[in-house]
Amino acid sequence: MDGTAVWEGSELEIVAVPTEGVLTRLCEVSDVSEDLPFRAEVDTVGYAVFQVGELYFVTADLCSHGPGYLSEGYAEGCEVECPFHQGRFDLRTGVPTSPPCEVPISVWTPVVRDGGIYIDIANPN
Ligand code: FES
Repeated sequence: MDGTAVWEGSELEIVAVPTEGVLTRLCEVSDVSEDLPFRAEVDTVGYAVFQVGELYFVTADLCSHGPGYLSEGYAEGCEVECPFHQGRFDLRTGVPTSPPCEVPISVWTPVVRDGGIYIDIANPN
């Protein structure tokens, strides 16, 4: 797609930042709240964006155990509970914290800039 990605019918902004790699804008800060995670989609891949207090976390949206979408899950503290079988992951590391989940999910360190939330998709933590 040559530097752009489709997100809910509009063009995503992609910013080249030499020291941080290429950052892709996932959503507006206002799209996510502590009660309501946000699903962003870039090139058909889903990302779940969470707010915990003043911090933001980004994980793969698809649960590593099955078809659950973590953006539809329940976040408490720094954990998210998958809505499908109630397995849990640490939002900071992607490590499973409750069965049946055993395989870590990818996580990214978000960059909050100009009212948006960005990640370097090619470089998960
Ligand atoms: S699909 Fe997420 S816990 Fe099974």
